[in-house]
Amino acid sequence: MCQEQKGFTLWFTGLPCSGKSAVADRVAEILRSRNLKVERLDGDIVRKSLCRDLGFSREHRNENIRRVTFVAKLLTRNGVAVLTSFISPYREIRDEARREIGEFIEVYVKCPLEVCMARDVKGMYQKAIKGEIKEFTGISDPYEEPLQPELVLETDKETLEESAQKVINCLKKLGYLDHNF
Ligand SMILES: Nc1ncnc2c1ncn2[C@@H]1O[C@H](COP(=O)(O)OP(=O)(O)OP(=O)(O)O)[C@@H](O)[C@H]1O
Ligand SMILES: [Mg+2]
Repeated sequence: MCQEQKGFTLWFTGLPCSGKSAVADRVAEILRSRNLKVERLDGDIVRKSLCRDLGFSREHRNENIRRVTFVAKLLTRNGVAVLTSFISPYREIRDEARREIGEFIEVYVKCPLEVCMARDVKGMYQKAIKGEIKEFTGISDPYEEPLQPELVLETDKETLEESAQKVINCLKKLGYLDHNF
């Protein structure tokens, strides 16, 4: 029998437009190409489905993350490689996710606010500055940086491919992937 894949959750956190989804998608692609079981949980999709009833108050953001944690936990314990991409701005709820999930790798997708604002992939920063969106992380709502993440990506200095490779190397170092992966 072939060796069972050990499940884990890669938890990408960072400002809007820092690159969470882009890096998580690329890492998922690499893992799938090696026949690993992979699931992606992305903020944009989850907020239209599992959490479509939620807004962006502190309570609702926490509830959003609690539901995602529940799903990630089930998948992780069934040997799936889970990649989540949520701003998840509050430290306390990320730490709760860590405790619940156990096999938890926090990836801080670090990028200066000015660079995120210049990217403005979905035009949200513009709207937030004009006051058309309230409670927007980085503008009118806080982002609490991870204190001891397993990995920090600096997406203003690295290419997408370099960031993805850093994640793969981290998984190897932590023993989730074979060294010859
Ligand atoms: N090293 C890098 N890593 C990731 N993304 C990068 C990098 N360099 C440039 N980018 C670009 O930055 C943008 C990041 O957008 P992305 O949607 O991934 O951000 P996000 O963190 O998921 O934002 P949101 O919280 O709004 O979902 C993409 O257009 C991506 O191509
Ligand atoms: Mg995203």
